[in-house]
Amino acid sequence: MPLFGAPWQVELGPMTTAAGQVRLRPIRTRDAAVWSRLRLANQRELQPWEPTGDGSWARRHQPTAWPPMSSTMRSQAREGTLLPLVIEVNGRFAGQLTVGNIVRGQLMNAWVGYWVDSAVTGRGVATVSVALALDHCFGPLGLHRVEATVRPENGPSRAVLAHVGFREEGLLRRYLHVDGQWCDHLLMGMTAEEVPDSVVARLVRAGRAAY
Ligand code: ACO
Repeated sequence: MPLFGAPWQVELGPMTTAAGQVRLRPIRTRDAAVWSRLRLANQRELQPWEPTGDGSWARRHQPTAWPPMSSTMRSQAREGTLLPLVIEVNGRFAGQLTVGNIVRGQLMNAWVGYWVDSAVTGRGVATVSVALALDHCFGPLGLHRVEATVRPENGPSRAVLAHVGFREEGLLRRYLHVDGQWCDHLLMGMTAEEVPDSVVARLVRAGRAAY
């Protein structure tokens, strides 16, 4: 639901999972310290799946890296092309979910990407977060299609995408530079027609989350 009238300042949830209460909220400048701490602590889990960056992981994830990054994300959010959200578990920063490359007009398309702190993985946090984001994309944002790209080797992320109902559309060869090399990615897609009700409601019916 939009806060303060700005369409990108959304708060989604809460939903209950085995990890606790999950909600999505806008990024804040004051997230710098916790963002840096979790990104540094999760380097081993995150680096194999994330686009190659300039400079070392340690340097790119200092608290000072957050203000310029979050300010760029917020300006894209104001333009309506990005929705940068923090995943909170029991009120604590536990990851990020971003809806990006939001294109309107005849495409009405966007991608979704996410990461979750390994301290709370394996308990449905990413699954319910993606479900909340999809309902927002197909509902208030009025999008027609959402896509996701995932490395074939990324079992946990493929499970998340399968749980919320993404379809496999094809293999993008050497699609993205990840962790030092060009890597194949599966293209996953979902259109509004495939969600006549709500992705969250489907998860609840499947026993994967509760209101
Ligand atoms: N192979 C297959 N499935 C697995 C494996 C594996 N090796 N390990 C775990 N799983 C399953 C879990 O059992 C679970 O399914 P279940 O609920 O049926 O048991 C599922 O993967 C994970 O579901 P969640 O608990 O909802 O997800 P979680 O909160 O653990 O977060 C995530 C998953 C986001 C992939 C996390 O592990 C992470 O941050 N990884 C590193 C970054 C990353 O890969 N991000 C995604 C990149 S792709 C994209 O953004 C589209």
